[in-house]
Amino acid sequence: MIFDTILVQVHGNVGLVTLNRPEALNALSKQLISDLVKALDKLESDDSIGCIVLTGSEKAFAAGADIKEMQSQSYPETFVHDFITDGWERVAHCRKPTIAAVAGFAVGGGCEIAMMCDFILAADSAKFGQPEIKIGVTPGAGGSQRLTRAIGKAKAMEMCLTGRMMAAEEAEQAGLVSRVIAAENLVEEALKTGQSIAEMPRPAAMFVKEQINRAFETSLGEGILYERRIFQSLFGSPDQIEGMRAFVEKRKPDFQFKK
Ligand code: CAA
Repeated sequence: MIFDTILVQVHGNVGLVTLNRPEALNALSKQLISDLVKALDKLESDDSIGCIVLTGSEKAFAAGADIKEMQSQSYPETFVHDFITDGWERVAHCRKPTIAAVAGFAVGGGCEIAMMCDFILAADSAKFGQPEIKIGVTPGAGGSQRLTRAIGKAKAMEMCLTGRMMAAEEAEQAGLVSRVIAAENLVEEALKTGQSIAEMPRPAAMFVKEQINRAFETSLGEGILYERRIFQSLFGSPDQIEGMRAFVEKRKPDFQFKK
């Protein structure tokens, strides 16, 4: 897969998508979003891929929507073309597990795309922010909602109202990222984590993702009922039979759906 604005590689059973517009700190242009959608469609339809890692450069995961490209739009244009909708939500709609491996700036739409992934691994150089207010707008790709759910109202308000950036350590303490990793090891660690997920029984991994995401959309009772039904539905599946049998027989399971 060859694209102008991203690089796509396969490492074992993990798809690695690298945002690649170094001249603009990976600003999320129309072309980049369109390339990203095509790459994700392809990786999702490839049965050998069990997890997708999204990363950027050492300096920037992504510096947000492309300001130079969007600056002259009028409100009717943004409305008619539903700006920041088409394509942007594709990351959130991935059915396979996704990891954002963030080094450097993840700001504006960059932070929002990272938060659309299932979890964020941050390099110690990572900086997160929603600075849209400084250019006269607000978060537009879910930042006000996903950031608030991730780190709570106080920090989300402060970040969106002031544009303050949050460094990796604070982001980990606040719950925005799952782990902080030395920058030089970030991609390798993300691929290793992705491979370990890709080797899990595929339906269980995809169900886990749905279960956890459901927690943001429903009441506790409904969410637990949804979880229970999924748990029950896996009994009798080849990987449940093999996984539990292997545990009892003290051997490594040989899962059918890992590829
Ligand atoms: N769009 C277009 N170009 C961008 C860009 C963006 N979002 N961010 C950076 N660039 C370009 C710069 O214009 C510059 O290009 P030139 O060399 O041609 O001048 C190049 O990338 C390098 O940027 P800087 O010189 O600014 O780099 P820096 O290290 O001094 O600063 C930064 C880094 C603090 C991230 C700064 O670039 C910055 O503030 N960028 C804009 C961040 C921003 O406001 N993002 C939100 C966009 S709106 C949005 O995303 C809406 C939404 O919710 C979807």
